[in-house]
Amino acid sequence: MQVELNSSCKVNLILNILGKRPDGFHELETVMHPVPVCDVLRFERAGSGIQLTCDHPDLPVDSSNLVFRAATQFTREAGIDVGIKIHLAKRIPLAAGLGGGSGNAATTLRGLNQLFGNPLDPARLDTIAASLGSDVPFFLHDQPALALGRGEKVEPLAPFKSLVGVHILLVHPGFGVSTPWAYKNLGRFPKDLNGETGRARRLATNLGISLSAARPDFYNSLEAPVFEKFPLLEIFRNFLAENGASISMMSGSGSTVFALVERQQKAEALSEQFRSKFGDSCWMTTVPLCS
Ligand code: C5P
Repeated sequence: MQVELNSSCKVNLILNILGKRPDGFHELETVMHPVPVCDVLRFERAGSGIQLTCDHPDLPVDSSNLVFRAATQFTREAGIDVGIKIHLAKRIPLAAGLGGGSGNAATTLRGLNQLFGNPLDPARLDTIAASLGSDVPFFLHDQPALALGRGEKVEPLAPFKSLVGVHILLVHPGFGVSTPWAYKNLGRFPKDLNGETGRARRLATNLGISLSAARPDFYNSLEAPVFEKFPLLEIFRNFLAENGASISMMSGSGSTVFALVERQQKAEALSEQFRSKFGDSCWMTTVPLCS
């Protein structure tokens, strides 16, 4: 028997950091939205131990890979002692602020739970997910969510009325940004390090009304340090804003910049304009935000 699952990515519609915590993480509030751009994971019982393969040459397949770590944790918690083969077909760019690795970890927990007849209940999957990374619990639920704490306290939300029919254009510049680096360098931007509490919940409420009502709360604290080091990303964001995007901003710790555009045709035209201005070196894709 085999289980094959899509592993989607996300964007942060707000990433509002509220301060540094004693444990070294940052307290934050965010609204994350799934984006239907997917890796594919295939799971089967075979051989002995955990064997991971991947079609992306830059991704290690040892215990440093989140898929491997998720599988190790799952088998330990579920008391499973049979061989497992996992194949990861990678489509989501790496170190992109899109949560690709976190999504892969959550999908591994879901896939293995399915393969072995659901030995772990949702609460245990949630606990393992939070131990693997701050964004991993979000990916156990395939829906928009408000996330608090270090990002692991997830409140799933109903689809946002104002985003129905909206298309998203993702632009990845071809290089990644290290998440620990971005958080560390936020320290030099006190205003962005100490955001105003309540903006994420207000954004979620206003997204139920209209994009223009929500507009003031689309915000990413990490743009400050990341745009300082990589000014090209700010140029991308501004170009998107000036050429038809309703909203444009960076996702997570970057390097992906995205645009929300109200109609498919307009999103595709913006993508073409971007390509003729900046050339072919960026990875770009346009999809409906709500599939
Ligand atoms: O939890 P995760 O492994 O995704 O975090 C990666 C790194 O990002 C952490 O080691 C930390 O440097 C930073 N981080 C943070 N505060 C958060 C989430 C991540 O400082 N809330």
